[in-house]
Amino acid sequence: MNTLDPALEKFLRGLPKAELHIHIEGSLEPELIFALAQRNGVKLDYPDVDSLRAAYAFSDLQSFLDIYYAGASVLLKPADFHDMAYAYFERARADNVIHAELFFDPQTHTERGVPFAAVMEGLKSAQVKAKAELGVDSELIMCFLRHLDEDAAFETLELAKPYLDDIIGVGLDSAEVGNPPEKFERVYAAARELGLRSVAHAGEEGPPSYIHGALDALKVERIDHGVQSLKDPALVERLVREQIPLTVCPLSNIKLCVFKQMADHNLRELLDAGLVATINSDDPAYFGGYMNQNFVETFAALGLNREHAITLAENSFRGSFVSAERKAGYLAQVEAYCAAN
Ligand code: ADE
Ligand code: ZN
Repeated sequence: MNTLDPALEKFLRGLPKAELHIHIEGSLEPELIFALAQRNGVKLDYPDVDSLRAAYAFSDLQSFLDIYYAGASVLLKPADFHDMAYAYFERARADNVIHAELFFDPQTHTERGVPFAAVMEGLKSAQVKAKAELGVDSELIMCFLRHLDEDAAFETLELAKPYLDDIIGVGLDSAEVGNPPEKFERVYAAARELGLRSVAHAGEEGPPSYIHGALDALKVERIDHGVQSLKDPALVERLVREQIPLTVCPLSNIKLCVFKQMADHNLRELLDAGLVATINSDDPAYFGGYMNQNFVETFAALGLNREHAITLAENSFRGSFVSAERKAGYLAQVEAYCAAN
């Protein structure tokens, strides 16, 4: 493994950043899974934390999703969602993530009989506390599970209607291949009518045509992952022209075998092509690290430099869903940090 200049590492760690691709259920550490299982009397298939962690050896997205949905089964009460999200916010603060847009998967919970209101209550109270006690800003993006059907997505959108002030947008996650974006064209149109912003996972394992589909059928404003875009030069040209942000998740891509090793990751090519790439942690409890771990490992393996870091931080704020005024405030923080470090 390549080493990272200690001065660059310090710079990366302290740099103010936004995280735009974090599944809050993917921040559930094994220790918390066991604590919540005990609190709620939920039986797990693993006898202890070590054996659960030992199962985190994935061959592709589906092999991960099977364990990820099992882990989420311990979440029942508002306090469980609160504890999970607040633990993430503490990690975010430690990594100088000052703004985070959290994905959550309501269907994973409502399908088990957990009320939508319980999910919202717990996540919202954690957001309020994180702002007050840690100074971390956040928004919520509600994801539709793409292995389920359009009707289920519409039902979820209906459940979200009382919470439109608390949810900034919709996303699309779960098993990508075989579930193209077009399946959700109508529900995205309905979400747009309600004033919701939109993103979708596309081009994680799936082909470039899924990225075109997310842009054309779903009219998304950001692409989650998008690393397969380099296979299609016309698509790259379009993404650059339209300045569509890509929320890239390097450690996730290695753990899910999208790339064999970090040295093979295409983040450097994405940046060199002029794409608005960002670094994110995806499901940090499962993939070996939070934001700064993603930065450090990617920079070490790809030989990225200070200019790349500044571009990535700026891209993260520019690509966020906050107001122009708040973006300017965050970008000023990046500028001040760079001037002082
Ligand atoms: N749900 C949680 N993490 C995901 C990922 N990386 N891709 C698709 N769905 C997910
Ligand atoms: Zn993801």
